[in-house]
Amino acid sequence: MKILDELPESVSIYEVSPRDGLQNEAAQVATHAKVRLIEALVRSGLKRIEITSFVSPKWVPQMADADQVAQMAQAPEGVRFSALVPNGRGLERAQQAGLGEVAVFLSASQTHNLKNVNKTIEQTLHAFDRVIEPAVAAGGRVRGYVSTVWGCPYEGEIPIADSLRLAKTLLERGCYQVSLGDTIGVGTPLQTRRILDAMLAEIPAERLALHLHDTRGTALANLLVGLSMGITNFDSAVGGLGGCPYAPGAAGNLATEDLVYCLHGMGIETGIDLEQLWQAGQVAEALVGRKLPGKVHVAGVRSLAH
Ligand code: HMG
Ligand code: MG
Repeated sequence: MKILDELPESVSIYEVSPRDGLQNEAAQVATHAKVRLIEALVRSGLKRIEITSFVSPKWVPQMADADQVAQMAQAPEGVRFSALVPNGRGLERAQQAGLGEVAVFLSASQTHNLKNVNKTIEQTLHAFDRVIEPAVAAGGRVRGYVSTVWGCPYEGEIPIADSLRLAKTLLERGCYQVSLGDTIGVGTPLQTRRILDAMLAEIPAERLALHLHDTRGTALANLLVGLSMGITNFDSAVGGLGGCPYAPGAAGNLATEDLVYCLHGMGIETGIDLEQLWQAGQVAEALVGRKLPGKVHVAGVRSLAH
């Protein structure tokens, strides 16, 4: 594999901080502050943002204000907002709030799935009967996530064939794209290559995205493997916010600033203004009341940014 000879000209970034980041915060963030973060992300040029999740407030109280967030945050022309939904009730709430895109999610690990949504993988796929087809029939778009593809905190390594089966099922059922999650950030580059070799033998690259976590500092290395294999869709969270409440040890999505810095440095377009993104990172830090791991926030590094 010739890594540096075969990079794409541009990539699409799907920003998850308002959902995947804030769902993980111990303290409740005020609704208007969430909306401020979303507006700052829009100003940076991000065109796809997952703004909240319509899940059970008993399970994830941090997202209990999803209806208000979705009503208050207005997507300008050309910007698409999305929200995570686990079932038909979630879809109804998203539709009532005027969202045209939702994302369904399941884990390739049975144990992680049970802990996350209280259902087996098959029961979860069954629950999607009331999400994917109805959403598409109503003119909406549905994205899919397969989590724990690189490894599970409970089951360890997950067979690639299991993740592949689920990704294909979600696409066949009507998802326009499936995001493969390294939910706990255990992935390494050669493993990423093995996973993508199997996926790309059966799924076109444009229908896949990578959702990488930087728990062990390997997210950008895995990203480079994905880029060189034709993947052009990546999920990230400003500041590196997030993790998963049901995945112990999951600290931090790939930081959008680090991703954009790296891509721009290699001449790959994102449509994002790094200075404005840095400002959004400042908003995120103020919201959560602490320094976030995104490296562009380190003094001096930003001055080299493109
Ligand atoms: P349950 O308790 O098994 O199901 O939860 P239930 O149907 O019995 O519902 C329990 C209560 O929740 C009921 O209320 C329902 O009405 C209500 P009660 O009668 O007790 O008053 N309820 C809802 N309320 C609002 N909106 C809804 C909804 N659905 C039910 N949509 C359930 C099952 C799936 C609902 C629950 O387990 C749940 O919400 N889980 C979500 C957990 C979650 O959000 N986890 C984080 C996702 S992050 C992730 O998975 C990884 C990802 O980020 C990628 C990566 O990082 O790798 C995507
Ligand atoms: Mg994540």
